Amino acid sequence: MSKLYDFGLVGLGVMGRNFILNVVDNGFSAFGLDLNEESVSALISEGGDINKVNASSDLAQFVSSLAKPRLIMLLVPAGKAVDNVIENLVPYLSKEDLIIDGGNSFFTDTDRRESYLNSLGFHFIGAGVSGGADGARKGPSIMPGGSKPSYQYIQPIFEAVAAKAHDGKPCVAYLGPKSAGNYVKMVHNGIEYGMMQLISEIYDLLRKAGNFTNEELQEIFAEWNAGRLQSFLIEITAEIFGKDDDKGDGKLIDKILDKAKQKGTGKWTSQNAMDLGIPIPTIDIAVSMREISALKNERIKADSIYDRPQLALIENKSLIAFAEEALYFSFICAYSQGFHQLSEASKEYHYDLDMALISQIWRAGCIIRASLLEDITIAFKEDTQLPNLLVAPKFVDKIQSTVNSVRELVAYGAKNGIPLPGLSNSLTYFDAYTSSELPLNLIQAQRDHFGSHTYERNDMPGIFHTKWGE
Ligand code: 6PG
Repeated sequence: MSKLYDFGLVGLGVMGRNFILNVVDNGFSAFGLDLNEESVSALISEGGDINKVNASSDLAQFVSSLAKPRLIMLLVPAGKAVDNVIENLVPYLSKEDLIIDGGNSFFTDTDRRESYLNSLGFHFIGAGVSGGADGARKGPSIMPGGSKPSYQYIQPIFEAVAAKAHDGKPCVAYLGPKSAGNYVKMVHNGIEYGMMQLISEIYDLLRKAGNFTNEELQEIFAEWNAGRLQSFLIEITAEIFGKDDDKGDGKLIDKILDKAKQKGTGKWTSQNAMDLGIPIPTIDIAVSMREISALKNERIKADSIYDRPQLALIENKSLIAFAEEALYFSFICAYSQGFHQLSEASKEYHYDLDMALISQIWRAGCIIRASLLEDITIAFKEDTQLPNLLVAPKFVDKIQSTVNSVRELVAYGAKNGIPLPGLSNSLTYFDAYTSSELPLNLIQAQRDHFGSHTYERNDMPGIFHTKWGE
C-alpha cells in the first residue's frame, strides 16, 4: 500500500504552497491539490522528497492519499470557490474527516457550511490565518473556531506550524464554537485597516509638515520599531520607504498610485459593528478612506477647484515626537474598538470569546502583531470583564500622556488642509467615550418633537413625551 499523508491542502496558490511547506518543515507529511498542473509540479519540486510532500490535480488521488480521519485544509478564495471545493470533496469523504477553511470567509457562510457538513457526519472548522505568504511559510497566527472535538484533530499540526511568541507560546488557540475563528479574523482585519490608515496619515504629516525625505522616513519608522510602537506594520513601513524604484529613479513609494484596493473584510467589520451597535469609528473611516482614494479622477478635478491653505511647517523634533505619541494613542484606540466589537459579538453569537487569549495569539505571526499586544493581554487577564481598553488601569497613563499630541496634530491637519480622519476619529472616540455628558439630550428632544419617539429624564425614572409646540 502506498504512503498515506498526514495532512491535505487544497489550493496551492502562494498561501497554500507556503503553508504546506511549513507543515512539512514541522515533521508532518502533506499532500496538495490544485487544478493548475504548474502549481502541482512547483510544489513537488520545491518539496524535494515525495514521501514528505506530494501533490496532484486529481481529486480522487488526493483524497485516497490521505490518512483517515482525513485532515483537509482549504486555502482558496473566500466565497463560491469554498462551496465548490466542498461539494467536490464530499462524495469522496469518510465519516469523521475534517475540512478546515483557512480563508477569509464571511462568518455566516462558515456557520452554514458547518451545519451542512456536520449533518453529513464530517467535521468542519473555519480558521482565520494571518501573516501573508511569509507568515504561512514561517509561522502564521491561526484563529480556529468550530467544535472543540473537531479542533482536537488538527491541534497538533496547527500548534507546530503557528508562529511562536517570545515566551514560546504558539499563536493559535481554539477560540470558540461555530464561526468564532472567522469572526475574530474579520475583526483582526478591521484593526489592520485602522492601523494602516493611521500610519498613512502619519506619513502624510511627516512628509508635508516636516519635509522628511523617504530615507529620513525609513529611519524614523525603524527607530519607532525599536520602541513601544514595535509592530509588523511599522517594520514593513520602514522597509517600504527604503525601496528603490526598479523601473525608474528614486524610491518606489513615490510611484505607487494612491488608490487603495480592498477585498471586503474591513467593510464586513464595519457593517457588522453597525449591526451590533458598537462604535468603531477608526476602522469605519479606514474603509471610507480606501473608497475616497479610489475616486482618483474625481479627486483630481475637485483639487483644481479649491484653494488649499498655505502649509506651515512643524519643527522636526517636535513633529516626530507628536507623531510617535499620536500613533501610539490611536493604535490603542483601534485595538480598543476591535476588542469592544469582539466582546459584543461574543454575547450576540454565543462565541464565549476570551479576549486575553485572542490578544495572546495576535502577538506573533499576524499582520497586526505588535508589542502593544503584550499589555493588552495583561489588561484582559487582569480584568476578564473589561468593557473597553480605554479604561484599563494599565492603559490610563499611556493614554493620558499621549492624547495631547493627537490634539496638536488633528488641529494642525484641520488648519493646513491635511485629512487626518483616522487620527481625528480616534481622538473623537476617546473624547466621546470619556464624556459623562454628551449633547444627545437635544437629539432625544428633537426625536420626541417631530416623531413622538419619547425620552427618558436624568432626574426621575420613566418614559416621557411632551407636546412641544404647545
Ligand atoms: C492577513 C491579511 C489578509 C488580507 C490582506 C488583504 O491577516 O494576512 O489580513 O488576510 O487578505 O491583508 O486584505 P485587503 O485586500 O482587504 O486589504
